[in-house]
Amino acid sequence: MSDTPYTERLTATPEGIRRAAELLKAGKLVAFGTETVYGLGAIASSDTAVARIFAAKGRPRFNPLISHLPDAESAFAQASLSGRMKEIAHTLAERFWPGPLTMVLPRSPDSTVSDLAAAGLSTLALRVPRGRTALALLREVGAPVAAPSANVSGTVSPSDAFHVLRSLDGRIDAVLDSGPCSIGVESTVLDLTRNVPVLLRPGGVTLEELNDLCGPIRHPDDFAEIAPASPGRLASHYAPSLPVRLDVTSIAPDEAQLAFGRPFPGAGLTWNLSESGNLEEAAARLFAGLRFLDAEGTRRGLKTIAAQTIPRHGLGLAIRDRLRRAAEPRTDTHADTMAPS
Ligand code: TXA
Ligand code: MG
Repeated sequence: MSDTPYTERLTATPEGIRRAAELLKAGKLVAFGTETVYGLGAIASSDTAVARIFAAKGRPRFNPLISHLPDAESAFAQASLSGRMKEIAHTLAERFWPGPLTMVLPRSPDSTVSDLAAAGLSTLALRVPRGRTALALLREVGAPVAAPSANVSGTVSPSDAFHVLRSLDGRIDAVLDSGPCSIGVESTVLDLTRNVPVLLRPGGVTLEELNDLCGPIRHPDDFAEIAPASPGRLASHYAPSLPVRLDVTSIAPDEAQLAFGRPFPGAGLTWNLSESGNLEEAAARLFAGLRFLDAEGTRRGLKTIAAQTIPRHGLGLAIRDRLRRAAEPRTDTHADTMAPS
């Protein structure tokens, strides 16, 4: 499917942003930085353009994409909102948009988002990102941009442009480099299509913040359960090639350690998410750390990535969720990397 021999490197200048917008409007694939992770963008109204996202990522087509817009007004124009959920959506938008929150809302009959991007669902995931470059790009495009994380499906998400190129160079038309992502884990996905708000994916906006503003938010205990409403929550995900061991209390010399706070002695290799035990810093260093331990650990013949316990509050919930999914056995669900597209 890929007819893309060369991936253009664009910088976050007005010309770079204009070029990226031009490519998107022409149905091309452009990876761009947001405050969470890099997204792989395509114009959301075009089935053909969106199909190329699924092909480049090897992503199963039943997994819907988030549509990105530059402001709440243009985002809500894609949705049908009424009653209490409308109030909640507007309250959330005022507080968290632009920012790392994705709202799942009933899809408007007038929505311009293609069926393929929405995976045929009657709902739509909408997000207004906070990254300056991302916002400028979305304004320039002037239409919804579908963008999953810019990595091969099932692998660790990209938190800088270098990560994007490592997995997608030559498979996409351009990458717009805006430097490393400030938050480093994906947006929080909140479902507002039922009678109570349901947290589908913990992310950059914390559960505490959501509960304060419009709680109680329903959520699975420690996200052990996979919410059926979020078809993308395949169990195995964010998977490095080394197996991952969670909540370790000691460490062996043939292990690569993902530390938080004070590292355990004796590891073959260590990446500290945050020496001071700061969860924001840990989130921002998570995906780079997994990549580093995986590559360097493999090179040194280490057997596992062993992760210290991350607290269950604030951004810790999102970090724990990503680590738990990185640790899932790679059974048939991980075959999604090989899925036909
Ligand atoms: O931070 C982010 O959200 C990044 C940046 C690029 O914006 N994007 C991202 O996209 O993480 P992706 O495709 O990797 O994850 C989107 C999640 C998936 O779990 C998907 O199943 C879910 O959102 N989703 C999308 N549309 C949905 C819908 N209509 N109902 C329920 N879940 C939906
Ligand atoms: Mg993803």
